[in-house]
Amino acid sequence: MQLNIFEDNDALSREAASEIVNTIQQKSNAVICLASGSTPILTYKYVVEIIQRDKIDIADVTFIGLDEWLGIPPDNEGSCHYFFQQHLFQHLRFSASNIYMFRAMAERPISECERMDKVIRHLNGIDLMLVGIGMNGHIGFNEPGVPFNKYSHIVDLDETTVSVGQKYFKEATVLKQGITLGLQHLMETGKVLLLANGEKKALIIKQTIEGEISNKVPASIMRQHPNGIIMLDKEAASLLSH
Ligand code: PGA
Repeated sequence: MQLNIFEDNDALSREAASEIVNTIQQKSNAVICLASGSTPILTYKYVVEIIQRDKIDIADVTFIGLDEWLGIPPDNEGSCHYFFQQHLFQHLRFSASNIYMFRAMAERPISECERMDKVIRHLNGIDLMLVGIGMNGHIGFNEPGVPFNKYSHIVDLDETTVSVGQKYFKEATVLKQGITLGLQHLMETGKVLLLANGEKKALIIKQTIEGEISNKVPASIMRQHPNGIIMLDKEAASLLSH
């Protein structure tokens, strides 16, 4: 695992954006898995800017959504679907047939897990994954206690996730379960970027990097990834010992 600390969120986001764009330029049919959330918003803005400016063809790129709130429809502004529509799809020409996200309203959510696992297998895995970190150390909806060797699964959301998650919604919203790629997917991904910015993430980042590698802090699995990069701004790195 590599650790990169940046002067500020702008520098971090520019670097993360160029990682994404470079992956696409090196492999026109790259499979990219992205997270929603506040953390990567500026990164996606730069991705859009570079792809538009340099007229990069993304028609063969496959997009995989990391997770989704179960039971929240795609037109709800707090959903991951809505997020990607706002920040990426309305600006970029992905092929609709190359976009795969968990359908939160599916009658049998478990079949969504099977569908996503199958898609990823058929694509021969994910080339690049960009994730954030929750205040409880989760990645996607891989909450504390999750086995490291899981593929897609349905999750009862952790209390922290339910309360912090309210920030994405216009009004108080009942959040009970999530659906997510598993940490086994992360371990099998070619390259993984974990981004964190701001002082509020400093403590969980310290636990992730300096604590034991354990499913109590799911993000600590990054330290076992041969090609994992933790990218922090100075504030998120402020409690690290070295
Ligand atoms: P955030 O969420 O980017 O909104 O802080 C990160 C996460 O919960 O994974």
